[in-house]
Amino acid sequence: MSDLFSNLDVEISPIEQQIIKLVQDLNYYNLYYHTYDNPQISDEEYDKLFRELVVLEEQYPQFKQKDSPTLKVGGEILDKFNQITHDTPMLSLGNIFSQMDETDVLLRHGELFGFNNRLIKELACDNEDLEFVASPKYDGVAISLYYRNGKLLRAVTRGDGYTGEDVTNNVQTIRNIPLSLPTEFNDVVELEVRGEILILTQDFITLNQKLDASGEKKFANPRNLAAGSIRQLDSKIAATRPLKFYAYALAKIDAQIKFNLFSDELAFLKQLGFTIAEECAVLRGSNELINYYEQMLAKRDSLSYGIDGVVYKINSLESQQKLGFVARAPRFAIAHKFPAQEVESILLDIDVQVGRTGALTPVAKISPVNVGGVVVTNATLHNLDEILRKDIRIGDVVVVRRAGDVIPEIARSVIDKRTKELAIFKMPESCPACGSHVVMEEGLAILRCSAGIYCVAQKKQAITHFASKLAFNIDGLGEKSVDQLVESNLINSVPDIFRLTVDKICGLERFAQKSASNLIAAINQSKNTTLARFIYALGIRHVGEASSKDLSKAFGNLEKLRLTSKEELLQVKDIGEIVANSILDFFAEDHNNQVLNELIELGINYPEVEAKNLYHPNVTAKTYVITGSFVNYKRDEIKAKLEDFGAKVVNSVSKKTDYVIVGIDAGSKLDKARELERNLINEEELSILIKELA
Ligand code: IVH
Repeated sequence: MSDLFSNLDVEISPIEQQIIKLVQDLNYYNLYYHTYDNPQISDEEYDKLFRELVVLEEQYPQFKQKDSPTLKVGGEILDKFNQITHDTPMLSLGNIFSQMDETDVLLRHGELFGFNNRLIKELACDNEDLEFVASPKYDGVAISLYYRNGKLLRAVTRGDGYTGEDVTNNVQTIRNIPLSLPTEFNDVVELEVRGEILILTQDFITLNQKLDASGEKKFANPRNLAAGSIRQLDSKIAATRPLKFYAYALAKIDAQIKFNLFSDELAFLKQLGFTIAEECAVLRGSNELINYYEQMLAKRDSLSYGIDGVVYKINSLESQQKLGFVARAPRFAIAHKFPAQEVESILLDIDVQVGRTGALTPVAKISPVNVGGVVVTNATLHNLDEILRKDIRIGDVVVVRRAGDVIPEIARSVIDKRTKELAIFKMPESCPACGSHVVMEEGLAILRCSAGIYCVAQKKQAITHFASKLAFNIDGLGEKSVDQLVESNLINSVPDIFRLTVDKICGLERFAQKSASNLIAAINQSKNTTLARFIYALGIRHVGEASSKDLSKAFGNLEKLRLTSKEELLQVKDIGEIVANSILDFFAEDHNNQVLNELIELGINYPEVEAKNLYHPNVTAKTYVITGSFVNYKRDEIKAKLEDFGAKVVNSVSKKTDYVIVGIDAGSKLDKARELERNLINEEELSILIKELA
């Protein structure tokens, strides 16, 4: 119908004209923003125009355009995808590989020379004359975009190459896919563009973190995420995924538009508003192909998108036609694949290593495999939680993954290949480095050695912390000196600090006579310390400077703290369940007590503190309001006293208020307290309370 009438002057209403103009403008701004990375207006201006269009489309749905940018936010929910037969099949490519362990170029790239020589022969040309277009082999999802009369008509997945699925609803949400061609190409009747939909590595990491945080299932890699997003029946979900489209071929165009070179086709696609990777290049001869391959391999991890190789295509379209196809692949093109970044191996054992902070980390010992060009024998398993969740067992066939600069990891077990009963992995109950007991933190995620001050794996960290400013404040015993003294075997444990002598360290690098004597003097001086510093120096997890001071005030000496109970600890200001457990774990470990005894024998001393337990059941962690004036107390004094005992003193009465202290001439706050039925305290009762807090 529309074709028949297209020559007639059809009346277009002003509203429809306004809508068409908005659509054209917004599509133009989109193109410059998402494809050319060259915004033409501010985000605010864009949003304003976009909202204008949304309002008009709501009011006049009959004028909604097929290429409206409002389609980019998703819309109707499908119950299935329609099957579509491709006009021309989406074929695959033949593969060649390089021998990563060979350095001789002929041996390393033998398959490439084979491919190139075959073409030289068939085209009867010289190596140096044979021109290729090289491009990254995007690791995404293949898609074919059909445009009719300049507008996106349909987007179809590769499927089996002949028939794919109609995923237009999702694909039209992709920001860098033009919904219509630039106006100067409006007369292009038929266009089919092929390319790959992918997610940039950084966007993948961010999105996976978000999915994880909201308790949703994470995706194994960017390709799976792209594929999963394209197959959403609800296009609003796809619209929230940061998908990108990279065009790699022009599959169909009106017969009158002709090209000689494939590189011209790519340039044309770029003009039409499609993204073509900057890494595409025109090359001549096998040497340039090899250089390109090696450069892309080296750049692989720093590219913003994932690739699994490079693709070479003969540039002359005439030669392409001459060479034609064999089976399901063109003879004029080839994929030069990179070594895989995910490879199977056998999990031989799980070694548990102790980090500087005492965290126990399981490390996989695997039979050596080449992953992405590097031989891997150890890989991280992250933590016990992951091992159990992924059901990874010693003896399993496992997938080893290396991506980017990250340490190789065990991605998963291939459970189908488990042929016999294998034991579920258990973490050791004592520290593999020092034998002390291990405590569990944050659910199953982190196991930690409880003997930070004793454990050999943690000694450098423990000694540095012990000597640090807020602890023993030993000038000259910073990280570097600690490294040096530990490595030259002069200090092996925290008490060894006090066994150093000038003679022992003098002559070491950075320790001339003077600095050696200075250090020993600083060490001796540090022996007279305070209880708070001593507690802080022990490096008990979660016990920082402030808690150390509170503990020092509450217990007065180390012996009392050593023998304390959970109930007592919970009465100390700001000490909660986690800190209390950590303190108890520390003193429950004999090795730690052994170190403490040694330190005291070596002469560490501190003046005893008058123990004050700053806890009161009706004050600590309660909320108070003070109103009116008092005969015997100033309001500030009352406030300070209550706060000392961990009360919160606020200005207005609410349901959260526990107590209201009522003085003379109390006004509206008293009324409010009565209305909300809060506990009232008069001056007489206050004086009893203050005595209890003395
Ligand atoms: S050209 C006749 N170029 O790789 C096929 N394909 O293994 C022409 N691919 O299905 C394909 N990046 O989805 C070509 N720069 C690129 C590519 C590329 C990724 C995919 C494509 C194809 C598969 C073949």
